[in-house]
Order: sequence, then structure tokens, then C-alpha cells
Amino acid sequence: MKKVITFGTFDVFHVGHVNILERARAYGDELIVGVSSDELNFSKKGRYPIYNEKERMKIISSLKFVDQVFLEQSLELKKEYITTYNADILIMGDDWLGRFDWVSDVCEVIYLPRTPSISTTEIIEIVKSI
Ligand code: CTP
Repeated sequence: MKKVITFGTFDVFHVGHVNILERARAYGDELIVGVSSDELNFSKKGRYPIYNEKERMKIISSLKFVDQVFLEQSLELKKEYITTYNADILIMGDDWLGRFDWVSDVCEVIYLPRTPSISTTEIIEIVKSI
């Protein structure tokens, strides 16, 4: 039984999010998703997500290829989350290429190609400009 874990904000949910989660699930028998907290996003980007953490967790939990969801409250706790959930594989989009290699002593790390031409940031910019 292989467990896959991934992390992300998943704000303003879009098809790129669906694709990575669907493909991540196909690497194992169970997919666990760490949804980053509102505070974590504020500290990283200087703004809060459009959808709050409860809403983002609810959206991710409702997907048929997601088995478990938890709130990621600290970037430094990656290894602790991975071991707590007994994950065998960490999967991230390749915009993160190399940036999770430091956890490769606790699980396998795989980067998958991003879906081209779509991102939360771009959607927000488009909506703002209308
Ligand atoms: N992702 C993807 N393809 C996209 C957009 C995101 O595969 N077109 C993946 C990311 O690589 C990450 C996960 O989805 O593994 C969550 O990414 P997130 O940062 O929440 O989404 P983005 O749309 O990239 O958001 P932002 O523009 O705010 O960075």
C-alpha cells in the first residue's frame, strides 16, 4: 500500500490543480494533501488567499482522488508531516524542481510537469482586469 503526499495552496481552484492531484494519486493507493494555511500564505506572499483555508480544504476533500487532507501550518515541518502520514512519495509540480530534495531521506520525491498556461495568480490578474 503506497501513500502519496503533496502540498499546496490550491487557491481559486483550477484544472492545473485537478491534473496534479489526479496524476499524484495514480502513483499510489492513497493521496494525502497538505493545504497551506492562510497565515503561511500571508507570511510568504504578503496577502491572504481569495478562499480561506477552511474553504480550500473543503474543496480538496471533495475530490474523488483525494483520500486525506490536513492543514499545513509550517514550511519547516515538511518531514514531520511526511513521517506522521507515513507517506512513501512526495509529489510536486516542476515549478518546485529541486526545492524538496532535502526531504529525500524520508521519502521518494517526484516532480511532475505543470499544466501549461494556467495559474491562480494569472486568473486573479485576468479577473482584476475585466
Ligand atoms: N500546479 C500545476 N499546474 C499548474 C498550476 C499548479 O501542476 N498550472 C501545481 C503546482 O506545481 C503545485 C500545486 O499545483 O504542485 C499547487 O500549486 P499552487 O501554488 O497552489 O497553484 P498555482 O496556480 O501555481 O498558484 P500561484 O499562481 O498562486 O502560484
